[in-house]
Amino acid sequence: MRTAPGKMTRMAEHRSDQWYAGTDRNAYIHRAWMRRGLPSHAFDGRPHIAIANTASDLTPCNMHLDEVARSVKQGVYEAGGIPLNLPVVSLGETLVRPTAMLWRNLASMATEEMLRANPIDGVVLLGGCDKTIPALLMAAASVDLPAVVIPGGPMLTGTFRGQPLGCGTDVWRLSEEVRGGGLSEQDFLKSESSMIRSKGHCNTMGTASTMALMAESLGMVLPGLAGTPAADSRLLEHSHETGRLIVEMVENDRRPSSVLTRASFLNAIVTLAAVGGSTNAVVHLLAIAGRLGVDLTQDDFDRTGSAVPLLVDLQPAGRWLMEDFHRAGGLLAVLAEVRDLLDPQALTVTGRPLVDYLDEARIWDREVISARADPVQPAAGIAVLHGNLAPSGAVIKPAAASEHLLRHRGPAVVFDSIEDLHARIDDPELVVDADSVLILRGCGPRGYPGMPEVANMPLPAKLLQQGVRDMVRICDGRMSGTAYGTVVLHVAPEAAAGGPLALVRTGDMIVLDVPQRRLDIDIDDDELARRTPSATAAARYAEPLRGWERLYVSTVGQADTGADLDFLVGSTGHQVSRESH
Ligand code: FES
Repeated sequence: MRTAPGKMTRMAEHRSDQWYAGTDRNAYIHRAWMRRGLPSHAFDGRPHIAIANTASDLTPCNMHLDEVARSVKQGVYEAGGIPLNLPVVSLGETLVRPTAMLWRNLASMATEEMLRANPIDGVVLLGGCDKTIPALLMAAASVDLPAVVIPGGPMLTGTFRGQPLGCGTDVWRLSEEVRGGGLSEQDFLKSESSMIRSKGHCNTMGTASTMALMAESLGMVLPGLAGTPAADSRLLEHSHETGRLIVEMVENDRRPSSVLTRASFLNAIVTLAAVGGSTNAVVHLLAIAGRLGVDLTQDDFDRTGSAVPLLVDLQPAGRWLMEDFHRAGGLLAVLAEVRDLLDPQALTVTGRPLVDYLDEARIWDREVISARADPVQPAAGIAVLHGNLAPSGAVIKPAAASEHLLRHRGPAVVFDSIEDLHARIDDPELVVDADSVLILRGCGPRGYPGMPEVANMPLPAKLLQQGVRDMVRICDGRMSGTAYGTVVLHVAPEAAAGGPLALVRTGDMIVLDVPQRRLDIDIDDDELARRTPSATAAARYAEPLRGWERLYVSTVGQADTGADLDFLVGSTGHQVSRESH
């Protein structure tokens, strides 16, 4: 027990005491400037809880998080804590250029530093749009203060002309129909105002939905919350509960390092496969694990997840949307079906194992969530490929690919950049047919920079008009979680980092063998060693001169280790040794 000025009696030792306790000048300054309506007992040893809030008018998927923060505040107060709004860097997937992924590490670094620099004892992390939950989790892992995530939830299902619209996925589908001549541009534009029906993030099993479910399967969300639609009043109810929970977590010193263990990451990998989640989760989970020194590799996704059955029939590859998923029983119903594949020791933010929450879970609609005995696909996790075209690996999501292309040999058609692709893909003179393998390089973490979601290249218009709907595509970038197709992603090392992808020439034979986990270029090693990257490609890899891009390009790692900055890997903890005045 420590005593501050006046009659205040301190309740317990907390980190924030380092700022507020005592009778010296510095403690006086810290308290005096924070009063502004806070009563004296706010400084009597109550836990001070930050609400790391990614609400922003420029992140439309997260616009509603201020409302969520209000419910969190009520819960924190009710449990005896002091809630403090902490706006942090936000990233809107649809607007931010050149790609939100360029800024994920910046958002995580800025959040980490503000959590460490301020007098807080625990944090509630409010995220939604694709990069926000990964960035927040990376930050919390590095600081290792008690932390819990509230996913902002998906939007409600849009409808157009009597049919449901899945945001993102149906944009790709409809725009391809326009390019293929099956839909007029006028009708395409009419669907625009129907796409986004309510507050919330994308309603397919895209990256935002996936990362919300990943956060819960990692144990970092109040069990049962992830996937609750943004417009559902239960989101606010659970947000209030989460506010109470974080105060209890502080009192029990329950930190990310006790929740985010290898066991919890393997549970997340099982979950990723069972729900048919986005390939982007691979990069994000690797980055989060790296922040805590958890031994997790890209190959773990294949070893642990590739044989897990797909139980969820959601867009982009399937039929339904997140509102249906929640109605059908949500994540806990899925996890109950694969319970035997989950590590029973992995804990959640409540201090209890994840599997404790599965006893009551039920599937309410087997069209949306299948029973284990009758899966959507028997083995649907992410496959990790290796070969002379991807020495450090590449990933593919077989569940979103065409069965007949999973073993394929075809001539490369190479594009050195996304601009090169856009300039030539619809050229009637382009030498390409359905057997060709489209290769897009210069889109990795360093090359773009930022590893954008461009790997789901549009098919050549002339092939679309012939009825071709899928081709093998290979890229060192990522694919939107709302897209689908036979797309090999995250090729590492990327072309800009000296990977062999930079050496491929149009006409080289490419061999994809997903069952054997191989990705090769069919030329001998001597010939490959003699080649140099094309001058066109190399010209685009000039390093930026200043600012974040310069820091990013000079320190970013490759996709197979999470594309984090090399000096951010590992946990620094929450200690700050020096005073500010
Ligand atoms: Fe924000 Fe899709 S654009 S989640």
